[in-house]
Amino acid sequence: MHSAYTGTVAVITDQEKRLRAAFCFEQGKIYTLQGANQIGKTLLVKLLTGAVRTAKSDFRVDGATVKFDSPASANSHGICAVYQDDDLLPTMRVDEQIALRHLTPSLQYFFELFVRFALLVLHQPLPAFSSAAHWVESHLPQRRLREQEIKKAAKELLASYSPDDASTNYVAHFTSRPSALSGGAKAVIKLVSAQLTPGLKYLFLDEVFRGVQPSVWPGIIRSLKNWAATEGIAIVAITHSEDEVVRWNPKQRLILREATNSEVVLEPIPPAFISRLAAGIPIRIGSYPVVEINVASESLKELCKDGPFHFLFDEKLKGQPPYRRLRETLNPVSETSLSGGESVKDWANYEKIALQLVNKSLRTDGCLVIIGGGSIINFGGFLAATLNRGMRFVLVPTTVMAIADVAVGSKTSLNLGAAQKDGRYLKHPIGLYANPDHVILDSEFLEWLPLDQKKIGLAECIKHGICQHKELWEKATELLKGSSGSAADWYEVAVETMHLKSDMLSIDPWETDESLILLYGHLHAHALERALKFDMPHGIAVYWGMLIDLHLAKDDRFDLLKSALLQGFGSDIQKVMMIEEVSRLGDDPDLLMEAYENDTKVQHKMDTGYSILILSPWGQQISREPRKKQAKKFSFDEIHTAVRDVSHFLGSGDSVAQHCSYRG
Ligand SMILES: NC(=O)c1ccc[n+]([C@@H]2O[C@H](COP(=O)([O-])OP(=O)(O)OC[C@H]3O[C@@H](n4cnc5c(N)ncnc54)[C@H](O)[C@@H]3O)[C@@H](O)[C@H]2O)c1
Repeated sequence: MHSAYTGTVAVITDQEKRLRAAFCFEQGKIYTLQGANQIGKTLLVKLLTGAVRTAKSDFRVDGATVKFDSPASANSHGICAVYQDDDLLPTMRVDEQIALRHLTPSLQYFFELFVRFALLVLHQPLPAFSSAAHWVESHLPQRRLREQEIKKAAKELLASYSPDDASTNYVAHFTSRPSALSGGAKAVIKLVSAQLTPGLKYLFLDEVFRGVQPSVWPGIIRSLKNWAATEGIAIVAITHSEDEVVRWNPKQRLILREATNSEVVLEPIPPAFISRLAAGIPIRIGSYPVVEINVASESLKELCKDGPFHFLFDEKLKGQPPYRRLRETLNPVSETSLSGGESVKDWANYEKIALQLVNKSLRTDGCLVIIGGGSIINFGGFLAATLNRGMRFVLVPTTVMAIADVAVGSKTSLNLGAAQKDGRYLKHPIGLYANPDHVILDSEFLEWLPLDQKKIGLAECIKHGICQHKELWEKATELLKGSSGSAADWYEVAVETMHLKSDMLSIDPWETDESLILLYGHLHAHALERALKFDMPHGIAVYWGMLIDLHLAKDDRFDLLKSALLQGFGSDIQKVMMIEEVSRLGDDPDLLMEAYENDTKVQHKMDTGYSILILSPWGQQISREPRKKQAKKFSFDEIHTAVRDVSHFLGSGDSVAQHCSYRG
């Protein structure tokens, strides 16, 4: 285990209850702590950080027993808190207060500097002196900063809180007096002051974002997470906000709760409980474990011990060894098979399958295990989230796309309109956010997935590669261009993409259009899918969408993607990419416009133009909330021309450079 702050504590609370906690906070990890009002969260933080004492405690930092009699003595062990009732001196300038809090008296500073210098000099001729020098160094107080250093570091931290947004310029508060600041600005200053604690290892934040504008704190959390990861600091955030927990994406969610009438305990929140913790509030990624596991293993049984299990699975999996082994391990009480593909996600199908499950005595306390590609996962998730007013479910993704993109993120979806002969087909107008208890990944399923399906599913991996990660792009296009690749290679690319998506979700958990990377190419992809009545597989539509976006942005990566597709699908390209069908749409702007208009998400954008993400060159960090900086608007006419151009370039195999001059 890494360095950790561990221990136990027991105390009687104001409500005369016994509060008991056993804890372990590892350096560099994030934890959240929840619990009802008045249960004792603030008291616990004060106990752990020296503001309140109890005889019944056993605190250890990196294995060594420590005792604190004040917050300052906890600080000297690297433990610091931002308390709710912390206050700044109203009339003293912020920069001076921060400097005062951390400044060492000059004499002590120079003495410590002298000892450190002497150790360094002595160490050169006397290497044998090394262990003694190490001992002395480790017993010196943490090196403190001088006033100018403190002010500079504080300004840098404040600037990192809102790098892209000049309207929240915290640095401007730095020379103000707190009496002139809002509650939110004061909270931010207290945070920075705590971050500068010399030798800090464990930072406790007691509802620090109270009073801070909702548009601002997600950016501060992002900055704190980056800082904590770089500096190896553990953060324990106490909060009532589920949205805040999701953005912290904690290693562990803890809850302080009443165990009996007279006892309050601290414990990790079990995943099954998390999905019901806040009724009505969608809880997303970060709240449930994604586990790479062999489906036949004992540990799977241990993980999913809460049956009875009902399997909902893609019928193509039936004879496959990994499916059979999953069945032997979990021993389901019922099995319902479905054919994969977009048509499964239909409203009419919902009633049919729901009835089948109910007739197989699906119990309210049962667990639906959904095994299949993205379509069955979208569909099954919606069933589980709505049947019996929401029941437990586990996802087992079996395609490249399902592993890379669908099984993480909590969206469940149905399409609407397939039953109408010539009516509107809508993609995903029905759905809700719901989290599984677990996502189980087993690479063996990919051994059975046909090569063309793998290549189609790779589109979402290529999307992340093209937007964010040149190496992922290279690995993925190698697979696209090749004629095989082991299941392990495909799995590796899918899992790498899944991690990139998880990372994006901790910034944009709702998958709104804040994070345009997740939606790259998807405006056109969904329009084409609708216009072609869902005959076009989602992955193929995403390839088209990316080509159109790249072409609109006059991005050189257009040619790279086009040639990878030509090589990957070879002589089948016309058929697989449905080039003729898309060309026909290009000749019929009215039909195409209807498909764009039918997107519930973008309807209101018809007049002002559609936002398209303009990608940074590879290697340059793309802004993680690129909306304001990197999106450009395009009219429908421009998009229509691009659809026509792209189908022409793809159909003819021509390079775009033969027709247009792109940058460079
Ligand atoms: N965030 C989201 O909700 C999200 C993201 C991306 C895609 N999607 C959705 O996911 C779907 C596409 O996912 P997909 O490509 O996995 O499609 P899919 O579920 O239709 O599977 C593709 C094909 O592979 C077959 N199959 C599945 N697993 C197999 C295996 N192990 N061996 C052999 N055959 C197997 C299926 O029967 C199907 O014919 C679309 O409906 C798309 O809208 C959703």
